[in-house]
Amino acid sequence: MRRTKLLATVLLGLCAAMPAAISPQPARAQATRYADAPPIAFGVAWYPEHWPEERWDTDLALMKAAGFNTVRIAEFAWSRMEPQEGAFEFEWLDRAIAAARRHGMWVVLGTPTAAPPAWMTHDYPDTLRVAEDGQRARHGGRRHFSFTSPRYREFARRIAGEMAERYGNHPGVVGWQIDNEVGPPSFDESAVAAWHAFLHERYGSIDTLNERWTTQYWSQRYNNFEQIPLVSSGQHNPGLLLEYRHFVTDVWTDYVRNQVEAIRQHADPRQLITTNSMHWNAGYDHTKLHEAVDFASWDAYVPDGRPVWINLAGNHDLVHGYKQRNFWLMETQPGRTDWVELNRALDPGQVRELAWQAVAHGADAVLYWQWRSALGGQEQYFGTLLGPDGTPAPIYQEVQQIGREFAEAGPALEGTVPRDQVAMLYSYDSRWAIDYQRHNNAFDPLEQFQSYYAPLRRQSQGVAILSPDQDFSRYPLVVAPALNVVTQEQAQRLAEYVRAGGHLVLGPRSGMKDDANMMWPQKQPGPLSDLVGAQVEQFYALDEKVPLAGGIGAGEAEIWAEVLEPQAEDVEVLQRYAAPDSWLGTSAAAVTRKVGRGTVTYLGAWLEPELLERFVGQALANAGVTPILPGTPEGVEVSERTGEGKRLLVLINHGEEAATIAVPAGARSVVGELSGGTLPGHGVAVLQLPD
Ligand code: GLA
Repeated sequence: MRRTKLLATVLLGLCAAMPAAISPQPARAQATRYADAPPIAFGVAWYPEHWPEERWDTDLALMKAAGFNTVRIAEFAWSRMEPQEGAFEFEWLDRAIAAARRHGMWVVLGTPTAAPPAWMTHDYPDTLRVAEDGQRARHGGRRHFSFTSPRYREFARRIAGEMAERYGNHPGVVGWQIDNEVGPPSFDESAVAAWHAFLHERYGSIDTLNERWTTQYWSQRYNNFEQIPLVSSGQHNPGLLLEYRHFVTDVWTDYVRNQVEAIRQHADPRQLITTNSMHWNAGYDHTKLHEAVDFASWDAYVPDGRPVWINLAGNHDLVHGYKQRNFWLMETQPGRTDWVELNRALDPGQVRELAWQAVAHGADAVLYWQWRSALGGQEQYFGTLLGPDGTPAPIYQEVQQIGREFAEAGPALEGTVPRDQVAMLYSYDSRWAIDYQRHNNAFDPLEQFQSYYAPLRRQSQGVAILSPDQDFSRYPLVVAPALNVVTQEQAQRLAEYVRAGGHLVLGPRSGMKDDANMMWPQKQPGPLSDLVGAQVEQFYALDEKVPLAGGIGAGEAEIWAEVLEPQAEDVEVLQRYAAPDSWLGTSAAAVTRKVGRGTVTYLGAWLEPELLERFVGQALANAGVTPILPGTPEGVEVSERTGEGKRLLVLINHGEEAATIAVPAGARSVVGELSGGTLPGHGVAVLQLPD
């Protein structure tokens, strides 16, 4: 206790002389939907092309009865829209959209480019994807196209343009989804040519590339760009491997933009454009890709049927961060998935919990995948709203309840955005660089990020996840767990943030590499060293835990440990190793320092959860951040959506047992089962607070 108080005193002392910390103002709400569509879009992926047209009205009436107001259609219907090259058939889609409108559904149109038709893949094999082992894809799956194929780009642009010409001003079409979960790269001839052009553009000359990549090593030196292999992983030059990720990001962003431009030529600007992505998927930089679309959307699945709410919370906050704007949950499961070894269904009430969790974190739409399984498709076992006989599945009633609640709460939620109190910086480059060279295979950069996110989200109840290049200046506390790749410019912005009164926390492995994945020719944290006032004398991969002692309290480090050496007089040692018989000895494991009106803290070790939990509590206190709803029991997720003179609290009890909630004075229940301050297990409550 004494040591903890000592740390608090140290840190509070560092901050005491400073004016009030920076306090985040919520971002202004930006619509993710058409003018008069419902505030919360609720619906389902529907594939009318799978069914006889006489079935459509029955299905749409059942969708309406479920409380749906939105359907996403056409995303895999290329062979139905263009059954022969250049011969377009949209009349069926006209009728499907008209039917949806008759039943009060708004329509999101998917461009069908994730599933090219057989005439294309047969007549033009250059449009097919080639795997890294040289195997060319065959027809019958999906995403079997080459993302660099010029011919494929032309076909994709044409179908998107044809659709937009026909539906770009349709009053019932609220938006567009480009393709479906873009991701699988290709290694065909066009990709290799694009790779060489990309590198040439990026480095200008082969001499510059050779210098930046230190290609004298192992005689890698290239005479020209055409000699550079297109490889995704393995024992290759760190610069090449990082640039591969930049290349894939660049190509997918251009691929999406190709269709966005085709749509924008014809579509009403109120029809917004998105693409459904896959949260932590590290295939490309999602923040960069989302520069090509109006708002983000993602697909949330819990294949084992056992949701970990704090991880799902992080997934939503990551997606919200791409554009710092509300998003759509474009797909989620009405029960179970069908692509893992054991596809357990969510428990009763959890589909509702997860729907409300998405909205709590900034989703303005929740759509289920899917309405009904095609009788002969590859996903016959996937959870759906209707069974194979076309009648409602057991989950249908729970979905009806969600529909009623979304309709009830929609007006209150309209124009609100999540209230985030602190920010975390997620660097794709750093994740890729560490993943390529784990050095301790247990050092999973995503797990490390989530080890910080969990205590931060539980204790602050509002976390924004941003890239290091986005604006984090409004947050009183910014946490960057593993900024392994950091540029001079990024280091400069972080220093400015601290000097202006921000409180910055850096985690281990920060400041090792430049943006070509080369080591900075100085000790970590490289360009952050002047700010931190200390440097890393050495890093150590740990195969066992190491005791620590100091102001954060007794605890242990695991996986990674760095020996820190203060360089500046005003650096305070927060924590020391207590391992006298090892290289770590009693050296500094964490340091902190007052710089300008803020503080910077460097944690040089992977702290085990209890210790990190304690540190986070102290860091929040010292940044002046308090929970939105203090005293909320463990397992109850608190979120706030705020804006335009409104404050909505969304409380979700993810546990089995009832929880007692300190209901704020003046709170009005909008929906849910909070009663007398008690929220039952798996219960949801939405409260409107006096502004
Ligand atoms: C992905 C795709 C959907 C569907 C679901 C369920 O998210 O977007 O088309 O295949 O998985 O498997």
